[in-house]
Amino acid sequence: STLGASAAEKGGRYFGAAIAAGRLGDSTYVNILNREFNSVTAENEMKWSSTEPQRGSFNYTSANRIVNHALGQGMKIRGHTLLWHGQQPGWAQGLSGSDLRNAAINHVTQVATYFRGKIHSWDVVNEAFADGGSGGRRDSNLQRTGNDWIEAAFRAARAADPGAKLCYNDYNTDGINAKSTGIYNMVRDFKSRGVPIDCVGFQSHLGGSISGDYQANLQRFADLGVDVQITELDVAQGSNQANIYAAVTRACLAVSRCNGITVWGIRDSDSWRTGENPLLFDSSGNKKAAYTSTLNALNGG
Ligand code: G3I
Repeated sequence: STLGASAAEKGGRYFGAAIAAGRLGDSTYVNILNREFNSVTAENEMKWSSTEPQRGSFNYTSANRIVNHALGQGMKIRGHTLLWHGQQPGWAQGLSGSDLRNAAINHVTQVATYFRGKIHSWDVVNEAFADGGSGGRRDSNLQRTGNDWIEAAFRAARAADPGAKLCYNDYNTDGINAKSTGIYNMVRDFKSRGVPIDCVGFQSHLGGSISGDYQANLQRFADLGVDVQITELDVAQGSNQANIYAAVTRACLAVSRCNGITVWGIRDSDSWRTGENPLLFDSSGNKKAAYTSTLNALNGG
């Protein structure tokens, strides 16, 4: 009947959307959100620049508009994101070394503590691996504080909110490739050493095709003992859009530890991919073919 209800019938999975606090006054938008989705991610409002615009001075006004809406509707909330090289406040961009490390870990602790008990899954660290064939870490101010910054962040997040699932989230990991294998090796290492990690997010910003080993890639992570989630799904409009949405949905359903799917926006006009019409609802809020194929896939078709 709806994306969220159909996902819930498949082992209690969720079907979510990234939303913007500034659109919660748009009735077309909110009607679709409340009808179709049972999970939300803040598209920007929980990022470092939003929540700690000045050092040590936290602002949760926009994030809370999303949190309160979601809780009022009984929706799960994915927290996005505690640490990332992108959308850092200016003051953090100017730090390095132990000063940056301390500020970053304090940020994780403060934000995860503030939202304790409300977040289903946190993207503790976002996009820390390099593109291309190296399989290594992305260079960033955070990486330059030491290779252990990711595990330090996960330990701080666990201490702050023991009930949240703690995820690593990245893009271009939608098949078995050097980047996803680098992440796989990190997760395997974390599990072997007891670093607290519960899930891996696969953003899945897709073009005109889907990797033939998409499902196998999800499964190899699940086999390490973590949940997997599709966290930022959108697919360029084209002849194959509906099929790709359905294929992603079927892949998630085929992996028992794939808990849920989040699309990165509601209507095409809400998308960060301007002009690509990559979402499930057109700019007027009408269901697209991709919506129908996704719902059919959720229902086993
Ligand atoms: O809020 C300001 C506004 O005050 C200002 O007038 C305007 C002018 O540029 O900018 C507004 O901020 C924009 C913000 O979105 C809110 O709309 C930023 O410029 C813009 O860069 C920002 O883009 C976001 C992007 O992350 C930033 O990297 C997108 O909305 C958001 O969809 C996108 O999300 C990321 C995920 O977090 C991580 N994975 C990739 C994904 C897509 O890029």
